[in-house]
Amino acid sequence: MLAKKAPGIKSSEVTPRKLYLNRREFIAGSAARAAYAATNPLFSRSLVIERQDASAAASAAPQVPQKPAVAKRGEFTPPDERNTPYADATGYTNFYEFSTAKRDPAVLARNFRTRPWVLSVEGLVKAPRSFAIDDLIRLFPLEERIYRWRCVEGWSMVIPWIGFPLAEFIKKCEPSPSAKFVEFTTLFDPEQMPFQKTKVLEWPYLEGLRLDEAMHPLTLLAVGMYEEYLPPQNGAPIRLVVPWKYGFKSIKSIVRIRFIEKMPKSAWMKARPEEYGFYANVNPFVSHPRWSQATERRIGEDGKRKTVVFNGYEAEVGSLYSGMNLKRYY
Ligand code: MTE
Repeated sequence: MLAKKAPGIKSSEVTPRKLYLNRREFIAGSAARAAYAATNPLFSRSLVIERQDASAAASAAPQVPQKPAVAKRGEFTPPDERNTPYADATGYTNFYEFSTAKRDPAVLARNFRTRPWVLSVEGLVKAPRSFAIDDLIRLFPLEERIYRWRCVEGWSMVIPWIGFPLAEFIKKCEPSPSAKFVEFTTLFDPEQMPFQKTKVLEWPYLEGLRLDEAMHPLTLLAVGMYEEYLPPQNGAPIRLVVPWKYGFKSIKSIVRIRFIEKMPKSAWMKARPEEYGFYANVNPFVSHPRWSQATERRIGEDGKRKTVVFNGYEAEVGSLYSGMNLKRYY
């Protein structure tokens, strides 16, 4: 990951706690959402698809709402935090399939096609299967989870994600007892994702979790953020969110989930094995060769904060790693 300076956002622009959109942000956010709705396939094409569905009178499946229907909120909400402004969370992103520059994916991914979209389940499961994204959205009650979000490059945010626990999805997949790891793969489509024509990483982007990490109640499959479906640059239509790990574990635009016996090699482990381990747990005491992890710059704040072990989720996830040498297994 390239070192880039985080944008300077004045503290006056930060959203008050429990109130996402202050007036200023609301105006900026509305403009951004209007522009997005005008160009984004999720908005424009879903209407077409729903009309087609409607004409196929035989299909009685409930339609996917225009906005994610959130059934549950508030679980794991960190106290004394303010949500990062929508414009920053969606404008300052890492999505190397589109660009290595953080402001580019918001523009270059604008026309990324997220329908039709199929997520396939393979490997050590009772039966391989696949899910159309809109079926998934209908199948699982959506929750809002406000999580701290820490990038290995030293910036952090607080993001209200919308999704469902990966554990619920895994239960549906019925993995066999020999499955020990879960591997996730991003779409490979160089025509749509221009940087897949470069050798920045070995494509498609690939990540993995130990099965118990994947089953942890904090681990989400996200389909939305800030009351909307995910914008393309944040990993539409479905991505992983693992809040106690550095952001690079949270793979975007997933098309395949595979249950396997052996630890997979992630895209970053392949690209720079001396810099990126499998676990990638936020740890202020283990520095990345190029970036100290002791502090972080919270987007929207002046100065720096101290980084906290497991990104502040030690009480929830510490037991997953008891007895492990976290300096060695970084
Ligand atoms: N997933 C894919 N497919 N491609 C990527 O380049 N970048 C990762 C991760 N998931 C990335 C990805 C990195 S480095 C980070 S920090 C987070 O996504 C950023 O997520 P955000 O842009 O939604 O904040």
